[in-house]
Amino acid sequence: MTVSKPANSSVSSEHRLQIKRLLEPTSVISSSTGGDVVKGLTQMPKTLPPRYFYDDRGSELFEQICGLPEYYLTRTETAILQKCASEIAQITGASEIVELGSGSSTKTRILLDAYQQQGLPLHYLPIDVSAGILESSALSLLADYPSLQVYALAGTYELALSQIEPSELPSRMICFIGSTLGNLNSQECDLFLSQVITALQVGEYFLLGVDLQKPKHILEAAYSDRQGVTAAFNLNMLEHLNWRFDGNFDTTQFEHWAFYNETEHQIEMHLKSKCKQSVELGSLKLNVHFEPDETIHTEISRKFNLNTIQQELKAKGLVPQKMWTDENQWFGLLLCKLQA
Ligand code: AVJ
Repeated sequence: MTVSKPANSSVSSEHRLQIKRLLEPTSVISSSTGGDVVKGLTQMPKTLPPRYFYDDRGSELFEQICGLPEYYLTRTETAILQKCASEIAQITGASEIVELGSGSSTKTRILLDAYQQQGLPLHYLPIDVSAGILESSALSLLADYPSLQVYALAGTYELALSQIEPSELPSRMICFIGSTLGNLNSQECDLFLSQVITALQVGEYFLLGVDLQKPKHILEAAYSDRQGVTAAFNLNMLEHLNWRFDGNFDTTQFEHWAFYNETEHQIEMHLKSKCKQSVELGSLKLNVHFEPDETIHTEISRKFNLNTIQQELKAKGLVPQKMWTDENQWFGLLLCKLQA
């Protein structure tokens, strides 16, 4: 006899772990059916959404990027977290930790340790588009934190933020670390922050990690590393599309191109066609033509100014309570509280 489970969720026999897959409402430009790919590749200049970086291989390459000597972001933010985690736990008190784009949850362990040390309950809600990575990292967290409860949500941030229920603990802290906010343009950023606010009650917290403005050569080195891992990460998006939409991109005919746009304060990543070529995405019935040197814009990574971002958050009602940075002021961590 088979035991039937609710269609969109899988509950493990262990009561400390629950993984729920969120279903996307059918919309005009549906991402699950590649509508966003068609839209991006038929416009001028061509673009692709950065979330297509993260298939299994892409997530693996990103983990490798985090350890590169030129990619200062991860180690700098980790050092800041180690310095301030206990203060964060003290300020928020008993708090449910919601993490957007949790990935392997490596940095989150620093926070969990701090809450555990202060004897605070451990409720963790990781949100990620990859159900696979959610499950594997949740299992390893459960093994290491005996009193931890994990309620994982597999889906996009927007979906998850619109569907999470109010915290069972006295407070909630939504964490968006790793400077992922930098992937959003200012309009997307406004929308995202309003979704964060909707998922919080007055008096609850938002923890934000952002990469800061710094000299161009440091930034460009971080996105064009000498070992070529970032190039492989960028090109892997085409392999991902080949696999997902039955395509025939030849990755040897494209090259990685990243530069710092100083007026916009953002790194831009592109894939540049080495020749005149046509590519087909079979399941999307799409034929795309490229001229030599024509580009596909795959990512922006905005670099922030601590004062400006603080003012912007405050203007929206997310009032910075405390901020931390490193000795070079390369990376910033902000703890905000939603005001009435
Ligand atoms: C995961 C969005 C923070 O922008 O630095 C790393 C992704 N792209 N190298 C970033 C990325 C190229 C990363 N974020």
